[in-house]
Amino acid sequence: MSRKITIKALKYNPLSKISKPHFATYELEETSGMTLYVALTQIREKFDSDLSFDFVCRAGICGSCAMVVNGKPSLACRTLTKDFKDGIIELMPLPVFKLIKDLSVNTGEWMARMNKRVESWIHTSKITDISKIETKVDPALAQETFELDRCIECGICVASCGTALMREDFLGAVGLNRVARFKADPLDERNDEDFYELIGDDNGIFGCMSLLGCEDNCPKHLPLQNQIAFIRRKLSSVN
Ligand code: SF4
Ligand code: FES
Repeated sequence: MSRKITIKALKYNPLSKISKPHFATYELEETSGMTLYVALTQIREKFDSDLSFDFVCRAGICGSCAMVVNGKPSLACRTLTKDFKDGIIELMPLPVFKLIKDLSVNTGEWMARMNKRVESWIHTSKITDISKIETKVDPALAQETFELDRCIECGICVASCGTALMREDFLGAVGLNRVARFKADPLDERNDEDFYELIGDDNGIFGCMSLLGCEDNCPKHLPLQNQIAFIRRKLSSVN
């Protein structure tokens, strides 16, 4: 039997002089298999064309729809409204990232800064000849790299992180996972000393307080704490 659900969404436009943060409340009929994406789209079509939120893929792939759902950073397109027994869902934008408007934040700018800081590309002295067959990589090592490459840069781990809330320049689990990805990649020639230069401080690997919020909420179930612990152990022995 269908029921009515209540969605409360934070509304605020930081660029407007008259806008003040407040919750707007919407009531709508729940449909079978309804996700928050569907609910928000209905709200925008029927009740409030001004409500801002981000979506691209609607399938948990692009990472753009992350928001705080009843206190927990989550992907809106992978969240079913039926899982909220009392039918009341409160939505807020992700903390840490720059607010664009309402539920929309600028994760792209933050991720670009992070990728630059960890030099998120293969470092090699070899010249690639694209007319030749690609260098073979041991399948087990390739699998390890691909596993860590499943990150969709949604920002949920950053929004779930106590250190990131306190330290504006903290790399977060997403940045440390990036380092783990290149450390695992046999094509990248960087050693522990090179990685220490990039992340060997309190805004990098030594800032993590091991609270586990990142791993608890990561929608891709990446082994973030194992990777962070592994890198910290390795970099702790760099003189
Ligand atoms: S590590 Fe997980 S939570 Fe963090 S950005 Fe990547 S997919 Fe999102
Ligand atoms: S819309 Fe792409 S992950 Fe939700």
